[in-house]
Amino acid sequence: MIRIGVLASGRGSNFQSIVDGIKEKEIDGEVVALVVDTPEAGAIERAQANGIPYFIVEKKDYPGKGGMDRRIVEILKGKKVDLVVLAGYMRIAGKELLEPFRGRMINIHPALLPSFPGLDAQKQAFDYGVRVSGCTVHFVDEGTDTGPVIEQTAVYIGDCKDAHEVSERILPFEHKAMRKVVANFSKGKYVVEGRKVRYEARL
Ligand code: GAR
Repeated sequence: MIRIGVLASGRGSNFQSIVDGIKEKEIDGEVVALVVDTPEAGAIERAQANGIPYFIVEKKDYPGKGGMDRRIVEILKGKKVDLVVLAGYMRIAGKELLEPFRGRMINIHPALLPSFPGLDAQKQAFDYGVRVSGCTVHFVDEGTDTGPVIEQTAVYIGDCKDAHEVSERILPFEHKAMRKVVANFSKGKYVVEGRKVRYEARL
């Protein structure tokens, strides 16, 4: 049973996919904390609906460098989190947040990395005119969406009319990939060798 901490900024559908994966016993774990960086995040309602403790940590309350990340680490450590999941968390994890959880922090990105890192990946893919995009679950490192790749799913987007349709098309595949990776974390370990990630199930 792993203890999961989720960081989110928005509606929280990827957070929900983890909650559902736990309910349906695909994931052997518990979400022990949701941290959001805005009181507007829809993820809060999902936490409330599922009895999950949530914490609002706003940048404005931690103006100095690293202060916000240190507060988040305090929360996650207080909850004895094993795995930190960035599920639509729209901030870069600074070194204060990254170091204590290096190798135990993952992110979902709505494109096939290393294509289209950063913000608005679906719009970047649509504007570029690629026929295939998708999603990536990867370890977090100090770069922007540069950590070792754990899981990817390719999605055909060649007939999408706009970036919104691209987002809608990719989202269900994000949920599946997220559930699968978190389930794997709960039942074994990912071993990182350079840029390569290999999975070892627990016997
Ligand atoms: C998802 O599409 C996720 O991949 C993306 O934000 C959305 C959050 O949706 N993340 C990023 O773009 C990170 N750079 P959700 O709040 O419903 O999970």
